[in-house]
Amino acid sequence: MKILGIETSCDETAAAIVEDGRRVVSNVVYTQIPLHVPYGGVVPEIASRAHIEKISEVVRAALVEKVDAVAVTYGPGLSPALIVGLNAAKGLAKSLGVPLFGINHIEAHLHTPFLDSDMEPSEMVPALGLAISGGHTTWVDMPQYGVYNVVGQTLDDAAGEAFDKAAKLLGLGYPGGPKVDKISREYVGDFIPFPKGRPREGVSALAGLPAECCVSFSGLKTALLRYVQKEGGAEALAAAGKIPQIVASYQEAIVQAVADRTLTALKRRKCKSLIVGGGVSLNSRLRTVLGEVCKRAGVKLLMAQPKYCGDNGAMIAALAYYRRNKSGEEAMRLDVSPSLDFEA
Ligand code: KG4
Ligand code: ZN
Repeated sequence: MKILGIETSCDETAAAIVEDGRRVVSNVVYTQIPLHVPYGGVVPEIASRAHIEKISEVVRAALVEKVDAVAVTYGPGLSPALIVGLNAAKGLAKSLGVPLFGINHIEAHLHTPFLDSDMEPSEMVPALGLAISGGHTTWVDMPQYGVYNVVGQTLDDAAGEAFDKAAKLLGLGYPGGPKVDKISREYVGDFIPFPKGRPREGVSALAGLPAECCVSFSGLKTALLRYVQKEGGAEALAAAGKIPQIVASYQEAIVQAVADRTLTALKRRKCKSLIVGGGVSLNSRLRTVLGEVCKRAGVKLLMAQPKYCGDNGAMIAALAYYRRNKSGEEAMRLDVSPSLDFEA
């Protein structure tokens, strides 16, 4: 079964065809990043307009074969951006006379390790899932494929957001994650001991989750801000050549926090694998450290190929093949769901 997946939740206009949930037939991603760079972050109005301008071209380029269904992200994401993809997908499904599937973007990120692989998702569970992106840092128990119970999460910023905000503060540009990663890779030396993302007990109790399974990056962000202020500002630090040490130390704090909570979560349940998805899973240090964590825990690490880590239509098409939960008339009546979370 061939499915066309459409994705417009944030700043990528993307479409792809995937056969039987794993074989990628085509994959077209138009990134709007250059449009948002002058603003230091994604501007919803600009994103929406760019999706409108590009969606037909992107879908046409991806539609290299006849498809049996159309799948589309309906949340979470930016409402004016999601609307463009959802409406395009509804119109296309109707005109092609094929069913439509509504897909949860964050859940689709957790399907990316299976793209172009020969792994059967149902054979990789029970698993721990880690969705780590610009909007999410969430650990989910996956007793079966497609069943998710949230067992840990960030209590404030997502890891990607923490990278992006630090990069902005240090004048490194947008998006911050790839820049922080690159600078850190080239740094050799001591780390500044920034806080390791531990939430206060009472705060995590409010989210109904144990503190040892959650992260909080607000303390880390404040520590960075204070450090920069104390040292005379970002420009002074750049002139003194201190940016690499700060950036690498900040990245290490995030990576160690995520690694520590992941190991705790893995120790608490019987898992065959750790399934990681989302833009931050591109981070080279995180990939290495999670590899070590999985070795210690005796589980298999499943991560996507780098080309499938960021937002794309392939993950939407692929998940639709396995999920098929929002379909038919229900999908045709779907509205966008900007704050959609994991659904069981
Ligand atoms: O999954 P994604 O493309 O969009 C969302 O669903 O949010 O993730 C985007 C996030 C951004 O915050 C970006 O800075 C981060 O992923 N990111 C990285 C890296 N590449 C992208 N973070 C750390 N290291 C990277 N190499
Ligand atoms: Zn995403």
